[in-house]
Amino acid sequence: MTMTFSPLTPQFAAEVAGIDLTRPLTAEQVKAIDDGMDRWGVLVFHDQRFDDETQLAFSRNFGELEVSSGAEMSRPEENRLRPEMADISNLDVKNQLRAADDRKRLGALGNRLWHSDASFRVIPAKYSLLSARIVPPSGGNTEFADMRAAYDTLDEETKAEIEDLVTEHSGAFSRELIGFPREIYGGEFQEKLRPVRHRLVRYDERTGRKSLYLSAHIGSILGWPIPEARAYIRDLTEHATQPQFVYAHQWKVWDLVIWDNRTTMHRARRYNDLTDVRDMRRSTIRGEAMTVQQAA
Ligand code: OGA
Ligand code: MN
Repeated sequence: MTMTFSPLTPQFAAEVAGIDLTRPLTAEQVKAIDDGMDRWGVLVFHDQRFDDETQLAFSRNFGELEVSSGAEMSRPEENRLRPEMADISNLDVKNQLRAADDRKRLGALGNRLWHSDASFRVIPAKYSLLSARIVPPSGGNTEFADMRAAYDTLDEETKAEIEDLVTEHSGAFSRELIGFPREIYGGEFQEKLRPVRHRLVRYDERTGRKSLYLSAHIGSILGWPIPEARAYIRDLTEHATQPQFVYAHQWKVWDLVIWDNRTTMHRARRYNDLTDVRDMRRSTIRGEAMTVQQAA
């Protein structure tokens, strides 16, 4: 059976059929997925019955794995999963639902803001691969926004203005947006919150396309007063997340969605996390370069 790609919106995100990702892939199959990622930015696969072992083995086809920031910012005994697997669930180490005031639950609410994964790293993430193991009966969609279309549709004056802007990203800035004081969010892991710099406009030499590199983790634009920077980042985010740039994924158990963090943003939508289990597991591929070194 050959892989087929069916568009989910006119310009981005596609559903892929005709492949079992839990089995070893050929180099041609890996290349077809990579090419599909360059073309579509988000790929949706159904009925991929991964366990953590097979998900990580599949993920390694695309590069080196990141250690999840959740694991980096907690003690080993607090983690339900191995460090390469980001725990995007509402469960604690005992597989119990997290309570309303649970600190990890509150920190994870940052995912409800439009972001690009690990944009707070010096070399930010390339792909994220999210596997749905248990889905709630309602809610809990993930939305994706196309940052190449968002860039392309800016007016020429804005494109010229932002061309060489550099932003600062930190996991503390996004948590600040939902009301977390930095000391509480970061606890003893403050060094993980040191802001890093990225270009606001990324250039992708594989496709020759530019994209807006936005994220809730942005807290400033170099050389700008902070309130002005934050108001402008909000304006750009509002532009970039209009319905015509968005694909909303409604999860089924055993879906695997891969997205390119260099060309898309995403956010989680609300569900009844105090009563319904949602167990999603994310493996993340390291990026290859610092954005500030990429020529525009
Ligand atoms: C993530 C993420 C969104 C969701 O896994 O990086 O932001 O819907 N997830 O859980
Ligand atoms: Mn995310």
